[in-house]
Amino acid sequence: MGKIKVAINGFGTIGKRVADAVDAQDDMEIIGVTKTGPSFGCDLAVKKGFPLFCTFDDKEKIAAFATQGYECSGGISQMLAIADVVVDCSPGKMGAENLLKYQNAGVKYMFQGGEKHALTGLSYTSCANHSANLNAAGTRVVSCNTTGLSRTLVPLYDHCGSLTVECTMIRRAADPGDSKKGPINAIKPVLSVPSHHGPDVMTVKPEISINSLAVAVPTTIMHVHSIIADLPSGHGLTTNSILDMWKNSPRIIVMSGAENKLTTTAEVMEMARDIGRKWGDLHEIFVWEDGVKLVGDRLYYFQAIHQESDVIPENVDCIRALMGTETDWRASVAKTDAAIDAYYGL
Ligand SMILES: NC(=O)c1ccc[n+]([C@@H]2O[C@H](COP(=O)([O-])OP(=O)(O)OC[C@H]3O[C@@H](n4cnc5c(N)ncnc54)[C@H](OP(=O)(O)O)[C@@H]3O)[C@@H](O)[C@H]2O)c1
Repeated sequence: MGKIKVAINGFGTIGKRVADAVDAQDDMEIIGVTKTGPSFGCDLAVKKGFPLFCTFDDKEKIAAFATQGYECSGGISQMLAIADVVVDCSPGKMGAENLLKYQNAGVKYMFQGGEKHALTGLSYTSCANHSANLNAAGTRVVSCNTTGLSRTLVPLYDHCGSLTVECTMIRRAADPGDSKKGPINAIKPVLSVPSHHGPDVMTVKPEISINSLAVAVPTTIMHVHSIIADLPSGHGLTTNSILDMWKNSPRIIVMSGAENKLTTTAEVMEMARDIGRKWGDLHEIFVWEDGVKLVGDRLYYFQAIHQESDVIPENVDCIRALMGTETDWRASVAKTDAAIDAYYGL
């Protein structure tokens, strides 16, 4: 089989990162990315050698790219015609409209966490339900928060056989490149309770019983989760064995805040920049070792999520699931992560 032909619809915060991660793999290639019109993001596509298509089939919109000196390879229909799978990275809530385009083109499709589970009836997280997504027509990679919760809760559930969780999402107000959202001087509770974040975990691991609250705070760099998990009696775990479990699970970093001077998200992201991935990304979930404690059967912990990037390697694994080319999620994760780090010379 040749390389999997991947199209990216929406070349923004998530789309440009997924495109890079796909480009890093030897079993898939980018055959096109879309922009709504000429803007600074087109320069990145040109630099990377990704064919640039217009989000729409409208002739005038396609022609507009040339007025700013960009070569546009055509409208979205032309891109979909040569793709095996399209990764939808458009702003949230555009799913229903885009889904029709993908189905009409007969191409496999993946949405992001800004869309609801009901759109596809199937969701994806590498560690939770890779096998349930094998050879599916389409799915949704869950949000950055749901991905983060799944990374630490699924290994716990797999050990314990049952889990009841209450958590609070302390959410960044906006991405660093976003000037439209807030708050900038307030703490904003999500007043629809429970929030959708915790229950969304059950779209990939229905066996975990989980609820959440959420607040938005004036920061742009990470989310923090404050989590309380009740384990069943007889679990046989200790605080240390839980830390070891996470240290041995993919895409989780466990470090002492006090010993490493990593006591806030600011230092965690500075460490991420030292790691050296593009955009200073941190694909792993960060768990503060000294913020984890098992008291009786109740586990308390904090974790931090780099919202712009934890879902990126999941998208690569998800492509292999839909195409049915890798049935073992751990093998896919290892391949994805090694290829990305080699791509950045790490
Ligand atoms: N940012 C995060 O932290 C984050 C984390 C996890 C998941 N997600 C989810 O990922 C998805 C994308 O979010 P994002 O943060 O990458 O958004 P974004 O930065 O706003 O990028 C979206 C891109 O899609 C383009 N676009 C606009 N309308 C479009 C359409 N009809 N069809 C296709 N593309 C269109 C945009 O315009 P131009 O082409 O004009 O540039 C932009 O480049 C959402 O579902 C979001 O909820 C986001």
